[in-house]
Amino acid sequence: MTAPLIERSSALRQLRRLGKAMTTPLLPDDYLALINPLWSQRELRGRVEKVVPETENAATLVIRPGWGWTFDHAPGQYIGIGVEIDGRFHWRSYSLSSVPLVEGKTVSITVKAMPEGFLSDHLVNGLEPGTIVRLASPQGDFTVPDPPPEKMLFLVGGSGITPVMSILRTLDRRGSIPDAVLVYSARNEDDMMFVHELRVLALRYTNFTFYERFTDADGMLTADQLDDVCPDWSDRTTWACGPAGMLDAFTQHYETYGLSDQIHVERFTLAAAGGSAAGGEVTFGVGGPTVDVDGATTLLEAGEKAGVNMLFGCRMGICHTCDVPLASGRVRDLRSGDEHGEPGEYIQTCVSVAAGDCTLSL
Ligand code: FES
Repeated sequence: MTAPLIERSSALRQLRRLGKAMTTPLLPDDYLALINPLWSQRELRGRVEKVVPETENAATLVIRPGWGWTFDHAPGQYIGIGVEIDGRFHWRSYSLSSVPLVEGKTVSITVKAMPEGFLSDHLVNGLEPGTIVRLASPQGDFTVPDPPPEKMLFLVGGSGITPVMSILRTLDRRGSIPDAVLVYSARNEDDMMFVHELRVLALRYTNFTFYERFTDADGMLTADQLDDVCPDWSDRTTWACGPAGMLDAFTQHYETYGLSDQIHVERFTLAAAGGSAAGGEVTFGVGGPTVDVDGATTLLEAGEKAGVNMLFGCRMGICHTCDVPLASGRVRDLRSGDEHGEPGEYIQTCVSVAAGDCTLSL
């Protein structure tokens, strides 16, 4: 992993040493952040440079990261973004839609406002350029190897286009998109993000096929229609990102044909296993608030309802931002149905529910 900028620059290191001598017992960060909020080595930060509308309810946020950002994410990865609203940080993860490039010194995420998504709505409709946000490093393995496979297929629904856009833009920047088919479903043309850019790409690369599907008229693409839009789909390495129902159908389809290894799937929502946990009395930190929780409410949601400042990123068990040690009691992982009850064991509060009374170490 590349060292943070401050570790690589001797001038910055000396400035920091001098600052430390002058500012002890306070940390130099405390003073530097007053001069420029992006000069913090304690946490990754960024400044929102622009909010560019993409559709009626989606926008691209162009963010200039501060110290410590290395601009070397893999196309297809996501980042965490933390925004302060009414004194509390709200975290969420979004795929990067930009290419990994140092030159512009910015990164971008494209966010779709969801009806029930308080933060996504704020990011699309309420974020002023100049706002300082917290950032979590890029993560995720929905990426394409370099060099890419000779034949690729992208199955995309709605905002699932964002990681694929980063991948396509990166391939385009390298000057060669291999034999690739993109099947992109959106409600209608107005709701289709990046549609003009994608059409131009399809004109420039004869081996890139862009299949537009409007679900208002044609319904969601079903697995058995795959032969119609991409007859040689089974010869291609596939990346699929979109609504859970669509991903489930395609995962099942590939399994049926013994091709599970050929499909990479990125989910934006939690897939819960069946069954239920008992629920119980959950205590947030020894001596902290205690609430009665049912067996369907995640510990993260329960803590938030109780007014506890819970950290989170993806809210679906991927990023581990929400991990906290269990002090006592048992919890159940919603994805696997497995119970955990070792004191000191780290649990993911966004995908765990109480399986009886328990206490979290916060
Ligand atoms: S918030 Fe990402 S794993 Fe829990």
